[in-house]
Amino acid sequence: MKPWPVLMLALAACGDGPDREQHAAIPPDSVPRGTTERLANLAAPGPPVTSTLLAVGRDSYGGYCAPCHGKKGLGDGPVVEKGFPRPPALLRTTRSPERIVAIIGNGTGMMPPLAGQVPPRRRWAIAHYLVREDARGD
Ligand code: HEC
Repeated sequence: MKPWPVLMLALAACGDGPDREQHAAIPPDSVPRGTTERLANLAAPGPPVTSTLLAVGRDSYGGYCAPCHGKKGLGDGPVVEKGFPRPPALLRTTRSPERIVAIIGNGTGMMPPLAGQVPPRRRWAIAHYLVREDARGD
């Protein structure tokens, strides 16, 4: 037998058909890749506080939080100027990194949960950055 009929059969099997749908289906009890690692990263006390982590926190704050909370945490970000409810000044609120990490993930009151946007290590980075900013007194 020449090789090409086998090749044709193989190509036909790759076409659209019920077989294909099965491949696409995700088992209902499957756990997304990296979930265990993510949960471990979320657990207190979080990653060690290094200057790298704080720099990540500063940048991440600017990207994820400043749109609402404002560059200096005064509650005057551009989203608020467009009419979103004004958050309280961050530097006068909680000083607990654990609590800030929880608020980032779960949201609070009018603040939406950001668990889908901010990975756990970044949540810790932002929390420590905010606590340090306050300690510096500006
Ligand atoms: C879409 C706008 C929005 C974004 C984005 C946002 N926040 Fe908020 N945040 C709010 C609002 C509004 C409140 C006040 C919630 C309330 O009490 O109803 C709040 C409250 C908080 C509080 C609690 C303040 C207190 O003591 O009551 C913390 C802490 C906080 N945000 C941290 C963050 C951090 C850190 C980020 C970035 C990862 C972030 N927020 C992103 C809108 C936002």
